[in-house]
Amino acid sequence: MLHTIKKIGVLTSGGDSPGMNAAIRSVVRACAFHDIKCIGIYRGYEGMIDGDFIEMDARSVKGIINKGGTILKSARSTEFRTIEGRTKAHEQLKKAEIDAFVVIGGDGSFTGAMIFNQEFDFPVMGIPGTIDNDIVGTSHTLGYDTALNTVVDAIDKIRDTASSHNRLFFIEVMGRDVGHIALNVGIAGGAEEILIPEEDLGLDRLVESLRRSKKSGKSSSIVVVAEGDKIGKSVFELKDYVDQNMEGYDVRVSVLGHMQRGGSPSCFDRVLASRMGVKAVESLITGKSNYMVGIKNDVMDLTPFDQAVKGKSKINMELLRVSDIMTI
Ligand code: F6P
Repeated sequence: MLHTIKKIGVLTSGGDSPGMNAAIRSVVRACAFHDIKCIGIYRGYEGMIDGDFIEMDARSVKGIINKGGTILKSARSTEFRTIEGRTKAHEQLKKAEIDAFVVIGGDGSFTGAMIFNQEFDFPVMGIPGTIDNDIVGTSHTLGYDTALNTVVDAIDKIRDTASSHNRLFFIEVMGRDVGHIALNVGIAGGAEEILIPEEDLGLDRLVESLRRSKKSGKSSSIVVVAEGDKIGKSVFELKDYVDQNMEGYDVRVSVLGHMQRGGSPSCFDRVLASRMGVKAVESLITGKSNYMVGIKNDVMDLTPFDQAVKGKSKINMELLRVSDIMTI
């Protein structure tokens, strides 16, 4: 059924990422440009269920393009996973006369939107916002570029102290299911080894590689570990293993944690957010629904939700080879 879109809701859902505010701003301003009302939905699907809405116009989003986090707040809603929760959310949207919504979030948020669309024939559009870059259908998710820069900056600082004390550092970075962050920051930060969920390096090879690098004259080392790494050991267990099995190493651990999700978005993420917001609103206006907006080869693109949520985006295998060559 073709829907006339007069009012669009926008929400941020799941783990936040830098650039979400820039995307909210873009959705709100694209709506204003096309003479469509825009409603901010607080706290993701939780706020949708509660009817926690606010009218937004072009001026409500001033001064936020450079801000990390999300002014609309974010949440992971368990109630929205139930038909009762989604029915309540649908009633709230109807009551507020909202005709469509744009959800800025990750694959879990898109799965929710897809089910909602099927159940209520309600127009929905997604903007991929996650630092993990783990979504199919876009070369970059919102916040990924900023997170890479944040992590590289942190690794540079850790390297200063690592080399002063001739230490080996295990640095844990985010990336539950994919190693995009670890692989890229590992190369950019000059890591000796990079442990990712896609590849099982194995403890023996790790030890062998550390011995080799020490023999080749390196006095300090950095090993970047994605939180979902295949060896399956936490950075603390890796430290214990090296302590017990290798002599002459002074090992330290640094878990970067949620600082990777904060901070002012990079230029790339601000531009990407602006482009994605416009594409999302204009796609809804032209009658499209149930898609995720993405970028491929610098061109905006739409991927059906069911494809976007199906798998995880693949790492670039060439980067693994480059990393091996760089650590000679
Ligand atoms: O934003 C994605 C992510 O950073 C994952 O890499 C990580 O596992 C997860 O979020 C942790 O998020 P939270 O602490 O909010 O559950």
